[in-house]
Amino acid sequence: MSDHSPSGRPGQVTITLDGVPREVPGGRSLAAALIAIDEPVTRHDRAGRPRAAYCGMGVCFECTVTVDGAPLIRSCQEPVRAGMSVDTTGEEAR
Ligand code: FES
Repeated sequence: MSDHSPSGRPGQVTITLDGVPREVPGGRSLAAALIAIDEPVTRHDRAGRPRAAYCGMGVCFECTVTVDGAPLIRSCQEPVRAGMSVDTTGEEAR
C-alpha cells in the first residue's frame, strides 16, 4: 500500500491508535503524525502525567509507544506507515 498520493507527495495513511483507526499524514515520523492530528500524548509517567515528544531526535525517550506489539519504540524515530498499530496505553510504555 502506497503512502503517497498520485501527485507523489505524501498522502494520508490509516493507522490504528489505541484500537481506533485514524487517518494521519504520511511521509513523516510517527511522533510528527500524532502531533498533526492533535494526539501528541505517547505515554504516561509513573505518576500518570501525560508525556509527549520533546527532543525529536531520539534522545529523551519521552515519545515511546508500542508499535505492532513491540514496546519502547521512539515514535520520533519511527516512520509512520499504513497499517501500523500504535498503543500509548501499555504498561511497557511507562
Ligand atoms: S522525542 Fe525524544 S526520543 Fe523521541
